[in-house]
Amino acid sequence: MEIRETIEHLLQHLQADLNGVVDSQTLEALRHRLLGRKGELSTLMRVLGKIPPEERPAVGQMINDAREKAAGMLDTLAMQIALRERVEALAQETIDVTQPLRTRPLGSLHPISLVLDEMLDVFTGMGFEVVEGPEVEYDRYSFELLNLPKNHPARDAQDTFYIEENIVLRPHTSPVQARVMLEREPPIRIVCPGRVYRADEFDATHSPVFHQLEGLMVDEDVTMGDLKGTLDTFARRVYGPDITTRFRPSYFPFTEPSAEVDLTCVHCRGEGCRACKGTGWIEVLGAGMVNPKVLALCGIDSRRYSGFAFGMGLDRIALLRYGVQDLRQMFEGDMRFLTQFR
Ligand code: DAH
Repeated sequence: MEIRETIEHLLQHLQADLNGVVDSQTLEALRHRLLGRKGELSTLMRVLGKIPPEERPAVGQMINDAREKAAGMLDTLAMQIALRERVEALAQETIDVTQPLRTRPLGSLHPISLVLDEMLDVFTGMGFEVVEGPEVEYDRYSFELLNLPKNHPARDAQDTFYIEENIVLRPHTSPVQARVMLEREPPIRIVCPGRVYRADEFDATHSPVFHQLEGLMVDEDVTMGDLKGTLDTFARRVYGPDITTRFRPSYFPFTEPSAEVDLTCVHCRGEGCRACKGTGWIEVLGAGMVNPKVLALCGIDSRRYSGFAFGMGLDRIALLRYGVQDLRQMFEGDMRFLTQFR
């Protein structure tokens, strides 16, 4: 029975054929050779017509069994090959995690930001809210509402940059006080950090742009004692328990009475050194009781409420804090300087 022999022969060789398969390409070629439209097992069906009818069912069954067996074996091998090829591909694509990276420089906070963050921590801890205002500011908030009417001599002293007749680059952070008092009812407790501008030469101790932190508290029965207590607490928390403040009488149009406030020199702790020119004190801020005229101008009842205010320069404090000699370094953006303050 020639056809049966052919089938047996094909099946006998199947395992040998499969052993010869090395990859999915040769596997598919073998599948095509056996089971393709003109494949060796497929074409057998055509021979059926030439054998006696009574034998056809048995032989047909035999051919089908052979096809199924071959297909099953091919599928199993196909899966094994696919898996192996995948593992090989992954092994080739592996990322070398030990390869050195091209690094980018990491930024750091500016020394003035560091000093400011620390101060804001202390003031917010005492219940002050942080409020910011515009750097390009109306004359009205910068001067008028702060009891600095037109032609007031203190306006010249500020050496203000004018943008238009009534618009300036703010020469201090005090206009934020006026804005907040106009908008809100007491109790008010705010600190206002920001950049300020004055027509100064750029040298070791002056810059046309620098930074201030303004403070304002308005409520019933606020006294100079509250001002002193607040500033002493600030000094101790930021610089240590042995640092205190000293008030000297002064004058500002927006406060009455007014004071220049010194801090125990943070370098010599009051002994006297070069940084404090031997005095043991360093001048850091202006302060006072909010002038009742200013309260009234900003719509606050000055018979019922009183307040204190202060304004300090942040740049000097940062210089002192980090022992930097020249203010210009704070503004020149030299990475070698700035990255020291991480
Ligand atoms: N604005 C003042 C300046 O720039 C600083 C100042 C002094 C602010 C006394 C105040 C204050 O709020 O009460 O020199």
